[in-house]
Amino acid sequence: MNSKKVLITGGNAGIGFETSKALALKGYRVIILGRTKQKCEDAVYQINQIAQNDYCTYYLCDLSNQNEIKKTAQLISEQHHSLDILINNAGQVFTEYNESVDGIEMQFATNHLAYFLLTYELIPLLQKSTEARIINVSSNSHYRGKVDFNNLYFKNNYKFFDAYAQSKLCNVLFTYALAEKLKNSNITVNALHPGLVKTSIGTKNTKWWESLAWTLWSKLGISVADGAKTSIYLASSDEVKNTTGKYWNKCKAQESLKTSYDKDIQEKLWKLSEDLCKIDYSKYI
Ligand SMILES: NC(=O)c1ccc[n+]([C@@H]2O[C@H](COP(=O)([O-])OP(=O)(O)OC[C@H]3O[C@@H](n4cnc5c(N)ncnc54)[C@H](OP(=O)(O)O)[C@@H]3O)[C@@H](O)[C@H]2O)c1
Repeated sequence: MNSKKVLITGGNAGIGFETSKALALKGYRVIILGRTKQKCEDAVYQINQIAQNDYCTYYLCDLSNQNEIKKTAQLISEQHHSLDILINNAGQVFTEYNESVDGIEMQFATNHLAYFLLTYELIPLLQKSTEARIINVSSNSHYRGKVDFNNLYFKNNYKFFDAYAQSKLCNVLFTYALAEKLKNSNITVNALHPGLVKTSIGTKNTKWWESLAWTLWSKLGISVADGAKTSIYLASSDEVKNTTGKYWNKCKAQESLKTSYDKDIQEKLWKLSEDLCKIDYSKYI
């Protein structure tokens, strides 16, 4: 019997929900981290019905709020002895400039800094697993990204796609830097593109016509179950248990954007992210 424990952010909807469901069916103990109580309860209920057990549970956390991330991670660490897999999956699209409670542009806060901070907070639990995996859901949008250190938040000239692509490039830069720092440890780190997937991500923080455009555009995409396949593969396949520091698409490793391999950019982003989250990764690794 598989008793591995997996924590997945945004496991209540879209790709995260399908990933949670599939892993629960394989016997994993799934912990969902989501922001809406009713949605989390519905997801947990459905998953436990399908898996015919009561292993799936959830924690509430708004991942755009650093204090909530720290408190939730603290609670998880008190209630669990170890963690085998962390899937940083939750992401958002904002077509207008928005700031988090910490004063950070929303896509950067949720899509990158939440991955960076939650991972840091859960490293001690992952270190207690015999073989741990960190999986960062990025996007092929990162190929059109650039980290603009002089205008990180695009505050005065907000271009939502540039901000989204930057946040997804940050996922890849973070993955490579963390994989390198953890290369002699029990933890692997990989990033992935799920495909163009028919979820409602483009309908949540957008104007009605943008929402309509996403709905039409995403009809060209794959089903949500297919969009979860690379996440499920990286979480559960023995083929990748020793593979780290790669970018995946359709369950195959592929080259990411050239600048994502740039160690100076990785390190600059790392230091900046530590400062913005007020943490020091060297405490753990
Ligand atoms: N769909 C695509 O075509 C596509 C393509 C490339 C990459 N991706 C990436 O895939 C990942 C999953 O996206 P999806 O398409 O499955 O989107 P989705 O259906 O909107 O699901 C996103 C999940 O993240 C949660 N979430 C968002 N903001 C949060 C916050 N501040 N705190 C806590 N939870 C939060 C959502 O919660 P609520 O249910 O409460 O909103 C939901 O559970 C994202 O990282 C996205 O960038 C998607």
